[in-house]
Amino acid sequence: MRTPEEPRRILVTGGAGYIGAHVCRALAASGFQPVVFDNLSHGHAWAVRWGPLETGDLIDGARLDEVFRQYRPRAVIHLAGLIAAGDSVIDPGLFYHNNLAATLTLLDAMRSNGVDRLVFSSSAGVYGEPETIPIPESHPFRPVNPYGATKAMVERVLADFATAYGLRSVALRYFNAVGAAPDSGIGEAHPHETHLVPLVLDAAAGIRPFIEIFGSDFSTPDRTCIRDYVHVSDLADAHVLALSRLDQAIGAESFNLGSETGASVRQVIDMAIKVTERPIDARMSPRRAGDPAILVADSSLAKSVLGWRPVYATLEQQISTAWDWHKRYRLVDSRCAAPAS
Ligand code: UFG
Repeated sequence: MRTPEEPRRILVTGGAGYIGAHVCRALAASGFQPVVFDNLSHGHAWAVRWGPLETGDLIDGARLDEVFRQYRPRAVIHLAGLIAAGDSVIDPGLFYHNNLAATLTLLDAMRSNGVDRLVFSSSAGVYGEPETIPIPESHPFRPVNPYGATKAMVERVLADFATAYGLRSVALRYFNAVGAAPDSGIGEAHPHETHLVPLVLDAAAGIRPFIEIFGSDFSTPDRTCIRDYVHVSDLADAHVLALSRLDQAIGAESFNLGSETGASVRQVIDMAIKVTERPIDARMSPRRAGDPAILVADSSLAKSVLGWRPVYATLEQQISTAWDWHKRYRLVDSRCAAPAS
């Protein structure tokens, strides 16, 4: 016998992480019950606020079976995985194990437990150096690092599983996630930070003496890299919409999630100076390996098919919410232990 709440139960792998915690918040706001599965290697138990936390490794099929049997979720949102593209070049084996092999274990557990709906956390990293800007979903996959390759491979697996086993999936290709849900107690808190916005805010806060600009010789107006920054709450909302889509559509689909506006590294730093009202020392450094000059999304498909409507459209809104979180969290405990209550 299924209990009345089981159809609203969603297993969220990586739900203790930055984007995962925001997804859980959005699920709860829409009447779903998120069940987090996370090994806490990068996520935080304190970020799990909207449902139970089950600790475990995705590679452990027996543990996964136990959790599936206990909660009988209707669908899975799969965000667990390693994200630092630079690290993936240094240790590709780790990335293929964590992002590809572990996903296969998860898919096996879904099949043996009769769960046929998946939302997968993919990435703009699948495209590599783009041929066209903005980038549509039809752009060829040419990942320039093992991280992007793992995402592209999983998308291929999902297409094959749709054909052979009837798995329904939506892959969401995030561009650059930034910001924090206001007054939510969650935000970007990677133990070993590599992302631009939190590092720039660290420099504004005096936690770091300066920010390095990786490359000032790109073919862009101010010669620094251009990215498409998209608010994490808007990304989270897209996951809820993707669950509805899985009720209507069969097969494997993919959608870009970006704000469709490019901002250069220099523009991000200038905006952070404006928002924080603090000076930021920015120093030129050589290019970082594997950084495309420009990544900007065409997200029209997510808007027309999923009905996605980003709310935090401007860089100023995005960095303001990041700074509100940063003041409360990083300035209180720069070791990433827990936010101030
Ligand atoms: N950058 C700097 N200095 C820093 C850190 C970053 O100049 O100290 C630059 C990077 O060179 C890049 C931009 O800031 O041009 C953004 O870099 P991030 O590290 O914040 O983000 P990435 O674009 O490298 O990657 C992010 C996610 C990936 C995802 C990608 C998709 O981490 O998972 O966006 O666009 F694939």
